[in-house]
Formats: sequence, C-alpha cells, structure tokens
Amino acid sequence: MDISVSNKQYLFITSEHNETLFGGAAGGGKSYGQLVDALLYALKYPKSKQLILRRTFSELEKSLIRVSLSLYPREIYTYNASKHTGRFKNGSIVDFGYCANENDVYQYQSAEYDVIRFDELTHFTEFQYLYLISRIRGANGYPKMIKSSTNPGGVGHSWVKARFVDVGEAGTPYTDADGRSRIFIPSRVDDNTFLMKSDPDYKKRLLSLPKNQVKALLYGDWNIFEGQYFSEFDYSVHTVSPFEIPSHWRRYRTVDYGLDRLACLWVAISPLGEMYVYRELCVSNLMISEAAERIIAKTGVNEQIYATLAPPDLFSRSQESGKSKALLFEENGVRFTKSSNNREAGWLCVKELLKRDANGESRLKIFRTCTELIKCLPMLETDPLKPSDTKNEPHEITHAPDALRGFAIFYTRPSEPKNGRVKRQWSEDMWQDYYSADSKGREYLIKKYGEPI
Ligand SMILES: Nc1ncnc2c1ncn2[C@@H]1O[C@H](COP(=O)(O)OP(=O)(O)OP(=O)(O)O)[C@@H](O)[C@H]1O
Ligand SMILES: [Mg+2]
Repeated sequence: MDISVSNKQYLFITSEHNETLFGGAAGGGKSYGQLVDALLYALKYPKSKQLILRRTFSELEKSLIRVSLSLYPREIYTYNASKHTGRFKNGSIVDFGYCANENDVYQYQSAEYDVIRFDELTHFTEFQYLYLISRIRGANGYPKMIKSSTNPGGVGHSWVKARFVDVGEAGTPYTDADGRSRIFIPSRVDDNTFLMKSDPDYKKRLLSLPKNQVKALLYGDWNIFEGQYFSEFDYSVHTVSPFEIPSHWRRYRTVDYGLDRLACLWVAISPLGEMYVYRELCVSNLMISEAAERIIAKTGVNEQIYATLAPPDLFSRSQESGKSKALLFEENGVRFTKSSNNREAGWLCVKELLKRDANGESRLKIFRTCTELIKCLPMLETDPLKPSDTKNEPHEITHAPDALRGFAIFYTRPSEPKNGRVKRQWSEDMWQDYYSADSKGREYLIKKYGEPI
C-alpha cells in the first residue's frame, strides 16, 4: 500500500483535538484526508469504531464509499453494502451513515463510537452535530474525536463558522469553557498537489463560477456572505420541523412566476399572528396551464386558501392575446390577488417578519421541508448600487424569496388607501369588538381600525 498525503492532510490526520475541522476550498483533499485518517486510525486501534457521515445516502455512496473501496486494501478490509459497514481484519469497523432529516440522528441513539467524521459539515445542522457528539464514548482508552471536513456555504455555514473559524487563529487550538479543544485547519485548492498535477485545469473551471462561489470554493474563504442581505437569517431560529397546521388557521399562497421558474409558497397564520411557510413548489419551465395544475395538485383537497398573491406585472395584458397572465391562471383554476412589487419596501417587510423579539423568536418560520426557500434566502446579496435592495442574480435563487416578499408586503403593510379606507390585518380583539357591535358600530370600527384584509 502506497499512500502519500499533502501537508494539510497530514495536519488533519495527526490532529488529536476533541474537534477538528478541515475546511475550505473544493478539491483541497478533505474527503480523501478523512478516508486515509479513518484507515490509519482503524489499523492503529484494533476493534475501534468509527462513523463517517454525509447528509444524504447518494452523496455518501458516490463519494466516500466509492473512494474507500478503491483505497482500502482488500486483504484487510471487507465492505458490507447492505449494512453500510466496513470491517478490518483487526476487528475495527467503519460505519458509513447519513442523516437526511433532522431527526435521523436518533438512529444512532444507542450507538458508541471512538471517532465520528462529518464530511461536508455545513450540510448538517448544529442540532445534529451536537447530538452526535454525545455518541462519542467508550472505555477502551482510544482517543475520542470528531473530525469534520467541509466547504464554506450550506445550511450550516453560520454555526460552523462561529464554532471553528471565528473563535481564533486558523491552525491554533481553541479551548472551550469545558476544557475541550477545537482546531480549524484551512484548506486551499493549491494544497492538493495531487489534484493540481493530475488536473491542472480544475482551478480554471472553478474560476468561471459566480464570484462568491469562487471565493468559497477556490480560496476557501468563509466570509462569502459579506454582502448577505438577510444576515439575520438563522436556521435554528427561522426554520421548524413540519407539523400539522390546524384547519382553522388562515392560509395564503404566494406566487412568483416567469417562464424560467415558478415559485409558490404556502403560508399559514396562527391565531397569535405567527406565520409559517409550510409548503413550497419550485419548478422550472412550466407553461401557465401546467403551473396552475401543479399548484392545485399540491394544495390539499380540503385546504381553504384565503388568497393567492401574485405581483402586479402578472396582471398586465399581453399585446398579442389581450389577456394577462393572471387571467390565464384564473382560466386554469388559480385566481390571483394583486400584491405589491415595491422591492425595497417588500424586503423591509420580510426583514420585519424575520426580526427576533425579546425571546429570540421571529414571527415568520419556515418548515424545514421548504428547502429551496431556506437555501436561497440567506444567499441573496445586497445590491451595491442600491443597498436597500437585493441583487437580481444569480437569478435562479431569486424566485422563492420574491414569492415570500410578495406575501410579506401584502400582509404586513396597509394597502393603498381606497375611498379613504386603509386595509390592515385585524387582531382577535378587533374582531371581537366588530362582532359584538351593531351595523353603525361596525362602520365606525372599520374607519377606526382600517378595513380588514
Ligand atoms: N493524498 C492524495 N493522494 C492522491 N490523490 C489525492 C490525495 N488527496 C486528494 N486526492 C485526489 O484529489 C481529488 C480531490 O480530493 P477530495 O475529493 O478529497 O477533495 P475535497 O476537498 O473533499 O473536495 P470537495 O470540496 O469537492 O469535496 C480527488 O480526486 C482525490 O482522489
Ligand atoms: Mg469532499
């Protein structure tokens, strides 16, 4: 067996800190480093147990399992594909696992490992990481460690950065209040001399990516979200596990539609005014009839939708047919209510909904199943020429946030006064007053509170 490693891989492999992060550029040799490290650990410590994790099984299979099969010598290693377990002759095992859903970590509830390895740590949530840390134990005296590798970006970018990158100098160990040590080993693509030799054009290909991705993937820069518009977005605050929405909560749909992409979000409002984006539909290249069909199909048969919001440009008539897109949607069974297209005001409304109250809670929460919105919202960048607006590119990430913006401005802002009347959201108390008043009283209340939405 003849394996050489880069300097950075050597640092990763020899680290015995409680937690190690090998983080940075794509192609820095991180996953390979994990596998070599796992092999050396397994051989050095007989009957040791290790777990290697990716977020989804297909990622695991395509990368780590495949590479391990070609890297680990067959004379001493066998892999059981149905159990996803590799076994060495000296009794050491390596389990290959994945945690696609937040709660998948519970499958390891009774497991015990000496080392747990996360590949692409920023794809995991902090909850998953902290839960799995507790599975590191055993009385064999072997070093107990968490070893992770990752690119910047992904749902876990913020917590990983805070845990490893922001706590001190790269390469210098950090000790937390409990005396546990962490180290961050940055990787750049040039560190992987093997790849630079075998595929010299790799760097050029990375350079053709959008600017932020070049920073993250080529240079391993963690400050990719410098221009992040929704810097307040926090996965642990703004997302929740799905739950059954009570049937009496008011529900909206909000749509952003262009030929290139349809984004439709379903939003429910609790009686206390909390909002939940509970479903999303994001599909490319649909004609209006198909888009309407998909929206209807994804809405429950007994689900009462109070209004389906769409931006004003969908209401303008096309010169050829004389019909607006909104009318075509209506002919296909989806009737729109016009929201506003004031971008800057709309984004401010989204910010308002994401703002945390004194208890650290926000009014708006997104079901974790709405992966496109959760991915795109934190990726939106501030427009350098108009700091209160977002950049309109990369265009593919704008659709789901645009749909949310349409809802936010419609719901939180009074609409333009009509006949001197202003529309607004009424509280339960206001409705109580209204129902207990006679017709004159009701007229008065509408003037006082504004017309209800
Ligand atoms: N020590 C090494 N010896 C030989 N080849 C290596 C070595 N380290 C990495 N490579 C090769 O370089 C390429 C990139 O390595 P690897 O996949 O580990 O990078 P990565 O940092 O995990 O990339 P990504 O960020 O895309 O996941 C792979 O083809 C891998 O086999
Ligand atoms: Mg990798």
